[in-house]
This record gives sequence, structure tokens and C-alpha cells, in this order.
Amino acid sequence: MNTATSTAYHYKVVRQFAIMTVVWGIVGMGLGVFIAAQLAWPFLNFDLPWTSFGRLRPLHTNAVIFAFGGCALFATSYYSVQRTCQTTLFAPKLAAFTFWGWQLVILLAAISLPLGFTSSKEYAELEWPIDLLITIVWVAYAIVFFGTLATRKVKHIYVGNWFFGAFILTVAILHIVNNLEIPVTAMKSYSLYAGATDAMVQWWYGHNAVGFFLTAGFLGIMYYFVPKQAERPVYSYRLSIVHFWALITVYIWAGPHHLHYTALPDWAQSLGMVMSLILLAPSWGGMINGMMTLSGAWHKLRSDPILRFLVVSLAFYGMSTFEGPMMAIKTVNALSHYTDWTIGHVHAGALGWVAMVSIGALYHLIPKVFGREQMHSIGLINTHFWLATIGTVLYIASMWVNGIAQGLMWRAINEDGTLTYSFVEALEASHPGFVVRMIGGAIFFTGMLVMAYNTWRTVQAAKPAEYDAAAQIA
Ligand code: HEM
Ligand code: HEM
Repeated sequence: MNTATSTAYHYKVVRQFAIMTVVWGIVGMGLGVFIAAQLAWPFLNFDLPWTSFGRLRPLHTNAVIFAFGGCALFATSYYSVQRTCQTTLFAPKLAAFTFWGWQLVILLAAISLPLGFTSSKEYAELEWPIDLLITIVWVAYAIVFFGTLATRKVKHIYVGNWFFGAFILTVAILHIVNNLEIPVTAMKSYSLYAGATDAMVQWWYGHNAVGFFLTAGFLGIMYYFVPKQAERPVYSYRLSIVHFWALITVYIWAGPHHLHYTALPDWAQSLGMVMSLILLAPSWGGMINGMMTLSGAWHKLRSDPILRFLVVSLAFYGMSTFEGPMMAIKTVNALSHYTDWTIGHVHAGALGWVAMVSIGALYHLIPKVFGREQMHSIGLINTHFWLATIGTVLYIASMWVNGIAQGLMWRAINEDGTLTYSFVEALEASHPGFVVRMIGGAIFFTGMLVMAYNTWRTVQAAKPAEYDAAAQIA
């Protein structure tokens, strides 16, 4: 090994994943805006199977969660694990393989989902050959990440890495268990489980995909990037350890709250409800730890839009992890389930927390890995911040109004026991909310275009010699 490679962080793969996060963010959210428009104006389905809502919706969820969110997690974990371990990536060639392998998974999803190939399990729709590819890429990711931890130059393992590690390990288990299936043709398989067991396994997976993919991984981001951007140590390191163990212990039991009032045994539903209520505590512990890291640095919010992204993401995290336990209470769920309230909750987490914390982290990371002082324009980061915040608020507020209206209209009955409203009446009442959601989504999407321009200008101004200088281990 020559000296240049042994003393420099491997930033190439970080640069690649960072750029693709922006690209997939635009694709996935653009699709979100389009399917939102389809719900408001159904003619946009164009009477074609490939462009129908039913096929494009899973394309949206896969694109935003696994392509946008996944690339953000790869970029930030590869970046922060090297820096906190003061060492270079273990097996850099394998890291390069994870980049190309993950892009191939995304490409195959983008082809197979519109063609109608699906295992019909939410967030696990991809068919068995793609599932196998995901497994191989994920094992490679685990080898790179844990290998880097094992070869660290410092004794301590920073808390952010605990969260990334739990995310990588648990997602591997979830993916394998939920996708156990019997292939019948090259692109068709049947689940190994049946009936209520299948539903239970699916929502054990679904909920923990939220808990470990959309939460633990992004908490790893929070624990590295909030202190870095605020230039303050984590508020309480002890709290972060309690936060970690409490969160991972409790999350795994909460899945049945997705199956209230179904054929699942009653005790399992109640267990899911109670565990969800307990989950409020570790969630808020983490949120408070992130927020309080700004103690003594609150004034920085006035001038630093990156810090604004990070802090507002934590506020949305706190909000959605309060809302979630409330929705898990069976009597509340009797109103919220099947309505747009759930969709509003999802996007409070997805746009407000996941997307905003990723965007904040990327604005911190992109100049660093391209050897620049800062992004091309701080003013444009600020513009993006407001577009993202206003877009998120419009999205979730319209879905609360719709959700509660739908829930109440569906259950309203006349004195003689007949339904007060037909389904179509509730649908008509939802139309204004669908339009506002589409507008909110379009505003959020515009922010992503601003980010792409700002990233493009930053990257264009960078020179390869500067990348190399920036990658030297201090
Ligand atoms: C411009 C931004 C976005 C828009 C306009 C948008 C729009 C939509 C729409 C219209 C649906 C279907 C709702 C329904 O079936 O009634 C949906 C579902 C979903 N979206 Fe988004 N979305 C956006 C961003 C995101 C992001 C960034 C994520 C994740 C990181 C995300 C995750 C999801 C999930 C998980 C669902 C399924 C929800 C469920 O089944 O309960 N979305 N989105
Ligand atoms: C303490 C934390 C949380 C709890 C207890 C919780 C609880 C819930 C409940 C009860 C539902 C509705 C299930 C139903 O009626 O079908 C739900 C749906 C959902 N939540 Fe959460 N939530 C939490 C945090 C989050 C966060 C932070 C995110 C996103 C990053 C999120 C993403 C989702 C998604 C995607 C769904 C829709 C699943 C589907 O039906 O497709 N949740 N959550």
C-alpha cells in the first residue's frame, strides 16, 4: 500500500453516494408529486397499466426510502465511520461494489415495478432475484462498515456508529426473514408464510424498516452531524447510550400496531400498543439529546441554514414520534387507520425528519468531500430550507384535515343504523386536501431542484487536487 492511500480517507464512494442521493431524491419526490396529482385528478393514470397509481406508488416508496434514503445512509455512514475511527474504509473495492450494486438494485426496481412484478408486501415488493442481489450488497456493506470499526485507530466506538451498526445488522435480518419465499418463475414467488402469520411477519418487517432504516440509521446521522455543525459536543453522552439500548430494545415489539382489529390475536395487538406507548420515551430522549446539543449555540441558527435543517428535522422527529404512539392506541387507531392521517404521519417522519436531516447532513458533507470551504451559495440553502419547511407543513396539515374528516364521515350513522355518508361523499370532501398536498409536495420538490443546482455549482468549482488534499487524515 502506498502512503497516499494509507493516510487519506476514501471519499470517492462518499462523493458518489452523495450525488446519487440528490438525484434519487429528485426522482422519488417527483414521482410523489405525480401520484399526489393522480389522487386529485385521476385522468393522470392515462388508462395505462404502467402509469397507474397502483404501480407508481410502490415505485415512489422504493425510490424515496431505498434509493434516496439508502444512498444518504451509505454516504453519511462511510464518511462518519472513517472520521470517528480515524482510519480509512476497510475493503474499499467492496465499498465501490456496494455503490454499483445498490444502483443496479434501484434500476431493476425502476424497471420491474412499473411492469407489474411485485411480491405485494409493502416496502418489500421487489421480486426474489432482486432480493438476492440486495442481500449480497448488504453483506458487502456490513463487511466494509464493521471491518472499518474493527480496524479503528481509537479505542472508543462513537455512539453514531452504534446506531449505524444496529441499522445495518437489523435490516439484514428483517430483509431475509420477511423475504423468505418460494420462486415459481423467474419473476414470481410466493411467501413462505400464510394468513395471519404472513401479516404478522410483514408488519414486524414494515415497522422495523421504519425503526431501523428510517430511524436508527438517521439517528446515526444526527449524532455525527448535529454536534459537528453546531461545533458542540453531544449534550449528554450517557443519555445517548441509554437512548440507543432503549430504542432498539423496544422498537422490535411494536409491529402489531399496524394490524389493530385484524385476525391477529388480541394479546399481540395489545402488546404492540403498549410497546408503542413506551417507545415515546427513548424517541424523545434522543430528540432532546440532539436539540440540547445546541445549548450555548442557539444564536448560530440565525445565520446557519444547515443547522436549521438539522434542528427542524429533530422537531419533526419529536412530533411524529409523539403522534405515532397516540395512533397506536386502539381506540385512536379505530379512527385513523385507512385514512390520510396515516399518510400525514408517514410524511411528517419522511419529509420532516428523514429528508430534512439527510439534506442538512449533505450540505455539511458535500463541500468537505469535494475539498471546498462551503457550498456554492448559503443563500440558496436558506431558500431550500424554507421551501422544505413550508412544503412539509402543507403536506401534513392537509392530511390531518382529510384523515379526521374521512374517519368521522365513514363511522357516522343515522338513527336507523344506516350510514350517513357514502364513500364517494367522503372522497369528494377529501379533494381540496389532495390538491393542497400536491402543492406542498411540489414546493418540497422545488427545494430539491435548488439543492441540485447548488450541488452542481459546488462540484463544478472543485478540482481533483483539492479533493485529495481534503481527504488527508489530520
Ligand atoms: C415531494 C415529496 C413527496 C410527495 C409529494 C409524496 C407523495 C406521496 C403520495 C401521494 C403517497 C400515496 C398516498 C396514498 O396512498 O394515499 C405517498 C406514499 C408514501 N410516501 Fe411519499 N411523498 C413524498 C416524499 C416522500 C419521502 C421523502 C418519503 C420517505 C423518505 C416518502 C415515503 C412514503 C411512504 C412510506 C408512503 C406509503 C405510506 C403508507 O402506505 O402508509 N414520501 N407519498
Ligand atoms: C415512536 C415512534 C412511532 C410509533 C409508535 C409509530 C406508530 C405508527 C402507527 C400506529 C401507525 C399506523 C398504523 C396503521 O394504522 O396502519 C404508523 C404508520 C406508519 N409510520 Fe409510524 N410511528 C412512529 C414513528 C414513525 C417515524 C419516525 C416514521 C418515519 C420516519 C414512521 C413511519 C411510518 C410509516 C411509513 C407508516 C405507514 C405504514 C403503512 O401502513 O404502510 N413512523 N406508525
